[in-house]
Amino acid sequence: MMPKLKSIDKIQFQNSLLNWFKKNKRSLPWREQAHWYPVFLSEIMLQQTQVDQALPYYVKFIKRYPNIHALSKATEQEVLSLWAGLGYYSRARNLLKTARIIVTDYQAKFPRDIKQALMLPGIGKYSASAILSIVYNLPYAVVDGNVYRVMSRLFAVPDDIRLNKTQKSIQKISDQLLSNIDPGNYNEAIMELGAVICKKQNPDCIKCPVQTFCEAFKKNEQLRYPIKSAAPSKRKITHHALIIVNKEAYLFVQRPASGLLASFWEFPILEMKKKDIKDELLESELKKIYGIEGKVTLKGDVFRHQYSHIDLTYQPVIIKSNNKKIKYLNNYRASKWCTFEELNELPIHNAHLKLIEWFKNLSQ
Ligand code: ADE
Ligand code: SF4
Repeated sequence: MMPKLKSIDKIQFQNSLLNWFKKNKRSLPWREQAHWYPVFLSEIMLQQTQVDQALPYYVKFIKRYPNIHALSKATEQEVLSLWAGLGYYSRARNLLKTARIIVTDYQAKFPRDIKQALMLPGIGKYSASAILSIVYNLPYAVVDGNVYRVMSRLFAVPDDIRLNKTQKSIQKISDQLLSNIDPGNYNEAIMELGAVICKKQNPDCIKCPVQTFCEAFKKNEQLRYPIKSAAPSKRKITHHALIIVNKEAYLFVQRPASGLLASFWEFPILEMKKKDIKDELLESELKKIYGIEGKVTLKGDVFRHQYSHIDLTYQPVIIKSNNKKIKYLNNYRASKWCTFEELNELPIHNAHLKLIEWFKNLSQ
């Protein structure tokens, strides 16, 4: 069911929202200058990530790559190591590809044309709308997770937010509600409202500038919205992560160039069907799969890590080895013995960063 817009005075709604935003917006580094590059960089980071979490990464990036030229000259491994920990790594790969295209094909400026923008790697409807509205004041309405929630509540949207057709109808209301005079601030304001006032668990309706327009508030049913069916269940797997120690050095391997966590470095993995694997079996698998002789010295507590389609359990295993030769790389691209100090420039993904921390604490 398409919510009705008639019940809402559009101009009044926009004014309340925009006035609130003017007075209350968070001061964020990419809001300080009117240049497209900080907006572009921040919007890529904010795609699946909250402001608080993205902020330190943004600061690191803008320092290392202060402009599009600097970014376009980076290597993928550099960008991935700087991005490590932020997740959804295809964003980092695409950021670099897009930076290079912008330099070579668009005179080092983000294209104004939405069709051209949408052809850039990693730029979808959300980021194109955000960047074009904030930078060039073009009238494209953004819809992200925050906006879905705000709109669902404002209009008491009765349909499952996971359905394509619900998402389309929310995009449609957002298009209609957008201020054509000030689309950039309007878009930032509606996202900001979702982030700081219309929060998932405890919406701060008392402070909400658009409370008088809100259907959910009227019915005192804020928490009922957005209506969302249960997530499809994820594939569950267990990885034995092998911290193979040879004197001061540890064996790291680089993941394949495509697929989950592509090109990241990690400890070698054994993927086993069962969980409680005996040391002897782990040792013989190590020999069979990697051609390495070693002895299990300690197993840590398992921990879980959620990826978008996989529920992964990690079992840390410390192994002592006397030989430094890895016979079979399997699908890995490369291997390297490193001390932890030598790791700084290698991209290592979250779960294995945790393993390193765990291991460091253990040895102190
Ligand atoms: N989330 C993503 N982009 C944002 C922006 N520009 N302002 C507030 N929240 C955001
Ligand atoms: Fe969200 Fe409450 Fe404002 Fe409605 S009144 S938009 S539920 S914060």
